[in-house]
Amino acid sequence: MPAPHSRSFRDGKTLEGELAAAMHRVEAHGVIYPAHYYETLVAKYRKGGVPYPHILTILGEPRILGHFYYKTALQRTGPFLDYGCGTGDNIRQLLRDGFPRDHITGFDLSWESIDLGFDLYRDRDALRDLFVVQDTFPFGEGQFDTIYSGSVIHVIADDAELDGYLANAWRALRHGGVLFGSTLGIEDCDACSPDEHGPPRVSPRSAIVRHMMAAGFAEPAIMVKSHEAHHPGDKKCVFEFCTKKDEKL
Ligand SMILES: C[S@@+](CC[C@H](N)C(=O)[O-])C[C@H]1O[C@@H](n2cnc3c(N)ncnc32)[C@H](O)[C@@H]1O
Repeated sequence: MPAPHSRSFRDGKTLEGELAAAMHRVEAHGVIYPAHYYETLVAKYRKGGVPYPHILTILGEPRILGHFYYKTALQRTGPFLDYGCGTGDNIRQLLRDGFPRDHITGFDLSWESIDLGFDLYRDRDALRDLFVVQDTFPFGEGQFDTIYSGSVIHVIADDAELDGYLANAWRALRHGGVLFGSTLGIEDCDACSPDEHGPPRVSPRSAIVRHMMAAGFAEPAIMVKSHEAHHPGDKKCVFEFCTKKDEKL
């Protein structure tokens, strides 16, 4: 299981403000909310909070869209797994971009973020069948052509768990299959202590490469992007990565 993580918002952000902003972004995708829906959601999520506050702050503008490999991934059209899918924001983007619905699966350890996505997009009945939730990885060998891992690596604190996660991805890909995604990291230092609000793992590039190659993947292509919650003096960044099973990129 991933390490416990903070449910509090940083930088003066609040649940109320971020829910309103997320609803606004989701409305831009054509979702219509009934009267008092916002108040209902605030009351619901005030009780337990949202599992990954940062994900709510970008919900509606999924990170997959800006990924350097995304346009190529859309051409692949074979079975696609979103591994650690959270709210399902990336899956909805694939659907908007015409990726074949029957080739999309979202997997997560918990329904919590997926339910937040259903609440925001009001599409539980329409999309429920795309999601699989289990506390162990349920997929067989060579089942997928492409696997996406968005903001998952940095929530897995334990090295052995991360190696298990990557080994599952490797096994579930067909030969020549692609793993792409992103993780928070740090560009120019060997180690970095997680801060109070940040994720438990802040990897240097070398550690990401090492873990992926230990799982059997080719050396990943990595691009650096700035983090949305970037602070002056903060060396954290987003690493976008892409690697293949058995074949060179
Ligand atoms: C920060 S959220 C990112 C969600 C989504 N991928 C996105 O880009 O918005 C991390 C997600 O990874 C899931 N997760 C963590 N460890 C996992 C594992 N070993 N297997 C599957 N999902 C995992 C968490 O439950 C959570 O939903």
